[in-house]
Amino acid sequence: MGIDVAGSTFGIHTETTSYVFGVTGEGLLRHLHWGGRIELCDVIVEPLWELSTNDLIQDVTPQEYPGHGRFRYNEHCLAIMFSDGGRELDLRYAGHDLGAALVVHLRDDRGVRVDLHYEVLESIDVIRRWVVVYADVPVSVQAVASAQFHIPYRDLDLRNVAGRWGAEFQEIVQPVTSKVVLESRRGISNHHHNPYAVLSRQATETSGQVWGMALAFSGNTKTVVEQTQYGQTLVQLGINDADLAIALNAGDSFTAPAVVATYTPHGFDALSQNLHDYGRSLMEPTPRPVLYNSWEATNFAVTCDAQIALAHRAAQIGAELFVVDDGWFGRRNPEPTGGITDGLGDWWVDPAKFPDGLTPLIDEVHQLGMTFGIWVEPEMVNPGSDLYAAHPDWIYHEQGREPDTARGQYVLNLTLAPVQEFITQMLDDLLAENVIGYVKWDANRPMSQVGAGRDVWYRHVQALYDIVREVKGRHPGVLFEACASGGGRIDFGALSVFDDFWTSDNTDALDRLDIHRGYSLVYPPQAMRAWVTDVPNFLSQRSIALTFRFHSAMTGSLGIGCDLTAMSDEDLRASAKHVQQYEQLRPLMQRWHRLENPSSNDYRLIQYSSPAGAVLFVFLPASRLGHTSTTVRLRGLEPTARYRFELDWQTHVARGDYLMNRGVRVWLQGDYASTVIRFDRMDD
Ligand code: DGJ
Repeated sequence: MGIDVAGSTFGIHTETTSYVFGVTGEGLLRHLHWGGRIELCDVIVEPLWELSTNDLIQDVTPQEYPGHGRFRYNEHCLAIMFSDGGRELDLRYAGHDLGAALVVHLRDDRGVRVDLHYEVLESIDVIRRWVVVYADVPVSVQAVASAQFHIPYRDLDLRNVAGRWGAEFQEIVQPVTSKVVLESRRGISNHHHNPYAVLSRQATETSGQVWGMALAFSGNTKTVVEQTQYGQTLVQLGINDADLAIALNAGDSFTAPAVVATYTPHGFDALSQNLHDYGRSLMEPTPRPVLYNSWEATNFAVTCDAQIALAHRAAQIGAELFVVDDGWFGRRNPEPTGGITDGLGDWWVDPAKFPDGLTPLIDEVHQLGMTFGIWVEPEMVNPGSDLYAAHPDWIYHEQGREPDTARGQYVLNLTLAPVQEFITQMLDDLLAENVIGYVKWDANRPMSQVGAGRDVWYRHVQALYDIVREVKGRHPGVLFEACASGGGRIDFGALSVFDDFWTSDNTDALDRLDIHRGYSLVYPPQAMRAWVTDVPNFLSQRSIALTFRFHSAMTGSLGIGCDLTAMSDEDLRASAKHVQQYEQLRPLMQRWHRLENPSSNDYRLIQYSSPAGAVLFVFLPASRLGHTSTTVRLRGLEPTARYRFELDWQTHVARGDYLMNRGVRVWLQGDYASTVIRFDRMDD
């Protein structure tokens, strides 16, 4: 059993870790341990005392879920306003229930109760926490974090990402010396920071203590990391309290999104394995099909004939899925405005582009042996659309102000029932009338002017999840890709309803290596879509060799976004070979490892391992002085098993311990050089 209780002490145990807290004499929930596995019978609860008249017990106690008020000056998890304007909260322990999860009850005498839920996924060293707030009197919830954690060190490094459109998931590392806040206020999880915190102590990829926490929510989020004055590091994750107010009537409750947490003493690789395992537990296990997407090839200038021409070439190189991107609907025309000011909301097939509807294209795609997929942006509407003309009141805007456009579009108010019904029905009809196996759900602008309701930030995201779940329930088997101008909607909340992530509009194969690396710390590579596109790249203007572009995209779920009708026969043949190779490697591509590069040359090393073998990707963006080789020490192999591989035009056989401890030498020359090496485990 992963959860045990001894008197007023609670233990949540995975196979190798323990999370322990207990009830203090004051009725506060005091955090006691999060780290390696311990037994509850050994726990000594040392007395805690107020350090001075300025360091009182509410702050000195590392609390599991502190409320605002009294002598609590460090971060609080819950802030409430009562109907008389009172805001003091005094949450005390009021019992617990132990079933599949542990539920600890907290109560405030003025009519607020909070249930803290703890669930354990023992085999992957992950715990899940979430809270439910119950109102027995009318209240306004002003802040509600999902969980607070205490790490028993004060000298930790924080890892997250900082980015923007086209530059998502750029890894940042900073020592936590005071308080750091990472947040989104855009209504989507955003391109800037991501809703997680990874804290480490002198850790490398393979050694050192690491704690990771990620929030499953795709809207406004806030992560606070603070070195407390009492020698610990406090981490809090939840929906953002900026511009938040959730009204609860007597009898109402509010469930905050879950936080996933893991600890390992074995470095960042082990942390990623735990979180990837968790991510994969949310996903359909079948591998994502090799995709062709028309966006970079045709932009808004979509026509049935041109898409059919692309589909023929896509099938020729071995794509398994053909996705028509933006431009097939409404009056979504490329000229004169670039296609962005009209069409969104009018989800009828443009007869000028598809005189006989989508069926001829879909039939052709099916005859070519591929699944058909389609792009939509259901949360948005253009001012010039029929939908907006019929329902100008369906968008977010503040009375008396000009509504905001970004990319020429408004955001639909998803909290309105008619809007939810419209989107659900539109998708239901689209999928019922056409044989579609894949939907790319885009969202190309942040929210603004949300109006009077300050709970909209939360309810919009909930409505999004509900709609996707409902449509998937009506059309089982259809995969949904989450895209928000690239990687603006990537988090575990999105992964619980979507099947694939579009990680960035930046398709430059070198930039993507950094984006993939940042993404890989927390999220599983199986959901990371990556395309090979034309050169010079539209963003970087770099011309990278086709092989490097393929190898870079093959580290994720392979996609192709080239204008295949303009591709030379030689490149088409090479592309077909790469796709075939990817399909052969795919079963071995299970666990992702960021390998260290000991060379003075800038090699980038990415490896996958699986019980059947491994795949190693080696990239050399630019050869540097000395043109040195690198030594690759693999990970995740069975030490005593033997593996067969090709290196320097020779076949070798070596044991896992040799490959992991001594490693193999790989030498690339030139710029944008790359190679992929397969290691097959031999029968024992
Ligand atoms: C942004 C996406 O990230 C692109 O892949 C493409 O779908 C465009 N939107 C279409 O407008």
